[in-house]
Amino acid sequence: MPLNEHTDQQRTILVGAGAFARELIEWSLDGALEDGRAFTAFLDSSPAALDGFGYRLDYLGAIDDFIPREGDRLVMAIGDPAAKARLGGLLKARGARFARLVHPSATVARSALLGEGVVICPQAVVSSHARVGDLVAINALSGVGHDVVLGACSTLSCHVDLTGRVEVGEGCFFGSGARVLPKVAIGAGARIGAGATVMRNVPANAVMYAMPAKKL
Ligand SMILES: CC(C)(COP(=O)(O)OP(=O)(O)OC[C@H]1O[C@@H](n2cnc3c(N)ncnc32)[C@H](O)[C@@H]1OP(=O)(O)O)[C@@H](O)C(=O)NCCC(=O)NCCS
Repeated sequence: MPLNEHTDQQRTILVGAGAFARELIEWSLDGALEDGRAFTAFLDSSPAALDGFGYRLDYLGAIDDFIPREGDRLVMAIGDPAAKARLGGLLKARGARFARLVHPSATVARSALLGEGVVICPQAVVSSHARVGDLVAINALSGVGHDVVLGACSTLSCHVDLTGRVEVGEGCFFGSGARVLPKVAIGAGARIGAGATVMRNVPANAVMYAMPAKKL
């Protein structure tokens, strides 16, 4: 179905329309959305956010102002964990339902548990008995090891490697290529820099970088 052929009952709405949203539109064309849906609309502070990119989606206004309708499905297209938590909470309080987007080239173990609105990009792997919280985004080529617990609203950039039994609190951010050794616990709100290798537990809200990772 072309991107803008839909009924009002089937609105599938991007929350945010930046670069990550454009990636999610591409993955949706590969069949990544639940129930074979296609994106029909977007929310953003700018109605022109997708101009010039060749997508024909309806503009529904700013995220903060949006009142969902029954039957709407939203997909969080924002990477920043704090923004996801705030806006996701606000929209859910208004009755919003978030759809999952899982690219067909990703591998998700049958025993893994995925929360509401989880986004999994091409060639990512979620291994056995991992638990992935609501509104988590796992970008391309990242790995979530066996028994990992990944807190709600966390974001993994590309090529992140969470090894077995890692525990991640809510709202953590992992830069490109970050890796975490087995059984390490990452406190809520931590930010792990690109290329960091985390060998020891990380306190909440810490910013870590380098190898072995140290506090910024
Ligand atoms: C670690 C990080 C989260 C810190 O962000 P920040 O608090 O804004 O800090 P800054 O970027 O201002 O960096 C502060 C200092 O740490 C250094 N630094 C930051 N990140 C680093 C990293 N990953 N490795 C080594 N040094 C790093 C900077 O060079 C800077 O050094 P200086 O003060 O001598 O100039 C961020 O730098 C990072 O790595 N983000 C990941 C980005 C990413 O992968 N995005 C993917 C999106 S698709």
